[in-house]
Amino acid sequence: MPTLAVYPGSFDPLTNGHVDIISRGARLFDRIIVAILVNAEKAPLFSMDERVEITRAVFRDHPNVEVDTFDGLLVDYVERRRAQVIVRGLRAVSDFEFEYQMALMNQRLNPRIQTVFMMPAEQYTYISSRLIKEVFSLGGRVHGLVPDMVETRLREKLAKSSSVAR
Ligand code: PNS
Repeated sequence: MPTLAVYPGSFDPLTNGHVDIISRGARLFDRIIVAILVNAEKAPLFSMDERVEITRAVFRDHPNVEVDTFDGLLVDYVERRRAQVIVRGLRAVSDFEFEYQMALMNQRLNPRIQTVFMMPAEQYTYISSRLIKEVFSLGGRVHGLVPDMVETRLREKLAKSSSVAR
């Protein structure tokens, strides 16, 4: 039976750390679904449509990477898609406690689903979507930390918000 994995998250925005984990997952599993959580944050910087568009564009040459959205319980979505695995990235020990809690809760909710933790390449271990947004909004360089398309969109958003503020 082909192994289908779900990589869930907010992806606001997609970072090169996410891209690294998705690429590793695409090599390890027959198919990986990047599942973007609807309404994770009340005011996301990137709309759901943008996040889907960006992720699809970045993985357009990877036929076994699918991009989808979900709401409600993750385990229900995974079951509905008939997937067997949840993929989560572990960057540092600080991620571990929350990830461990989530994995055990998901295991309790549905023991048939297995969480697999994957580590990104070392150069991505300090990147998070939250830090990218903060650094960029304060004028810092994020080149090389996010896909080019995300950097362009960040620039457009900044230009739009500064022209509104004027
Ligand atoms: O990118 P994030 O914010 O780290 O992703 C968190 C996510 C989407 C994996 C988590 O919040 C989630 O699974 N939400 C769906 C609701 C759910 O199932 N909650 C119980 C998790 S134990």
